[in-house]
Amino acid sequence: MKYGLLLITLCITATALTSGEYSSAYMAVGLDTTTHNPKTTTHSPNTTTPSPNTTTHNPNTTTSRPKTTVTTPIPSPTPPTNMAVGHYNFSKDGKVCIMVEMAIGIRVNTSKVNGTFIVQQNKTTVSGECGDKASTIRIIFSEGQFTLKFRNNETIKKFYVEYMDYDLTYAFKTGESNDYSGKNDSLELFSVEPGHSYSCQAETVYMGDGVSLDLTHNKFQAFDFKNNEFGPPEVCKADQHDYRVAIVVGIILIILIVIVVMAYLISRKRRSDGYQSL
Ligand SMILES: *[C@@H]1O[C@H](CO)[C@@H](O)[C@H](O)[C@H]1NC(C)=O
Ligand SMILES: *[C@@H]1O[C@H](CO)[C@@H](O)[C@H](O)[C@H]1NC(C)=O
Ligand SMILES: *[C@@H]1O[C@H](CO)[C@@H](O)[C@H](O)[C@H]1NC(C)=O
Ligand SMILES: *[C@@H]1O[C@H](CO)[C@@H](O)[C@H](O)[C@H]1NC(C)=O
Ligand SMILES: *[C@@H]1O[C@H](CO)[C@@H](O)[C@H](O)[C@H]1NC(C)=O
Ligand SMILES: *[C@@H]1O[C@H](CO)[C@@H](O)[C@H](O)[C@H]1NC(C)=O
Ligand SMILES: *[C@@H]1O[C@H](CO)[C@@H](O)[C@H](O)[C@H]1NC(C)=O
Ligand SMILES: *[C@@H]1O[C@H](CO)[C@@H](O)[C@H](O)[C@H]1NC(C)=O
Ligand SMILES: *[C@@H]1O[C@H](CO)[C@@H](O)[C@H](O)[C@H]1NC(C)=O
Repeated sequence: MKYGLLLITLCITATALTSGEYSSAYMAVGLDTTTHNPKTTTHSPNTTTPSPNTTTHNPNTTTSRPKTTVTTPIPSPTPPTNMAVGHYNFSKDGKVCIMVEMAIGIRVNTSKVNGTFIVQQNKTTVSGECGDKASTIRIIFSEGQFTLKFRNNETIKKFYVEYMDYDLTYAFKTGESNDYSGKNDSLELFSVEPGHSYSCQAETVYMGDGVSLDLTHNKFQAFDFKNNEFGPPEVCKADQHDYRVAIVVGIILIILIVIVVMAYLISRKRRSDGYQSL
C-alpha cells in the first residue's frame, strides 16, 4: 500500500518533469521562429531621407524583451527594436472589406546590405479597393509602401492573397540610401474558406532580389464580413504543428497515469490475495 502511493507520487513527479521539459523545448522552438529576423538596423539615414533624426528608435529602449519565459538563452541577434503589430483596414461605404493585423518587416539580405525595415503603424496611411472578386489594401509610409491583393476564387471557393508588392527607399547603412522594390504575383497564400479569417504567428514571403517580407502575428480577412468583424479563424500549418505536439504530450501523460494506476491496483490485489491465502 505504502509502496503503491510512493510509486504514484514518483510517477506524477516524473511526468510533471517531462511535461516541463517538453513545454520548455516547445517554447524554445517558438522563440526560434519568432526571433529569426536578423538584427534590425534602423540607422537613421544621414541626411538622405526626408525624415529627421528623431524618427529612429532609441536603441536604448530595446531592453524590455517581449518574451520573458525563455528558459535557455539562445545566442541570437537582439530582437527587432520595435516589431509592433499594426491594425490596418480598408472600408468602402462604411463596410469593411479588408482587415489586417500584423507586424511587417522588409528584410534585405544582399552582399551589400543586411537589415530589416520595420513598418510602424502610426506613420502609415491606408488606401485600397474593394471588390467582389478582388480587393486590395495598400499600406503607405514615408519610406515606401506595401500592397496586398486578395482574391475571391469562386472556382475553388477559397479566399487568398494572390499578389504582393513593396517599394522602399531606405538607408540601412549611414549615408547609403537605396531603392528597393519587388512584387510576387504568383501567390496563393493565406488561403481560407469563404467568410473565415486567417491567422499565423510568423510567415516569410520571398520577393526576389534578396528581399523577404517577414509578416508576424498575422490575422487577416477579406470579403464576407459579418458586422465588420473577423470570421472564424483558420490557423496556419506551422502553428497547428505546435498544437499537435502539445496533444501528443498530453496523450503520453494520460497513458503514463493509466499505467501507474493499473500497477498500483494490481499490486494491491496481489497483496490482498496473499493475505487471504495465509
Ligand atoms: C542626428 O543625431 C546625431 C547623434 O544621434 C547628432 O549628432 C546629429 O546632430 C543629429 N542630426 C540632426 C539633423 O538632428
Ligand atoms: C540607457 O538608459 C538608461 C536608463 O534608462 C541610462 O541610465 C543609460 O545611460 C542609457 N544608456 C545610453 C547608452 O544612453
Ligand atoms: C478598423 O475598422 C474598425 C471598424 O470596423 C474601426 O473602428 C477601426 O478604427 C479601424 N482601424 C483602423 C486602423 O483603421
Ligand atoms: C542571407 O542570404 C544567404 C544566402 O544568400 C543565407 O545563407 C543567409 O542565411 C541569409 N542571412 C539572413 C540573415 O537571412
Ligand atoms: C549578410 O548576412 C549573410 C549571412 O547571414 C552574410 O553572408 C553576408 O555577408 C551579410 N552581408 C553583409 C553586407 O553584411
Ligand atoms: C508611434 O508609436 C511609437 C511606439 O510604437 C511611439 O513611440 C511614437 O511616439 C509614435 N509616433 C507618433 C507620431 O505617434
Ligand atoms: C482559381 O483557382 C484556380 C485553381 O487554382 C485557377 O486555375 C484559377 O485561375 C483561379 N481563378 C482566378 C480568378 O484567380
Ligand atoms: C552626414 O551628414 C553630415 C551633416 O549632417 C555631414 O557632415 C556628413 O558628411 C554626412 N556623412 C555622410 C557619410 O554623408
Ligand atoms: C513568390 O513567392 C513564392 C512563395 O513564397 C516563392 O516560392 C517564389 O520564389 C516567389 N517568387 C518571386 C519572384 O520572388
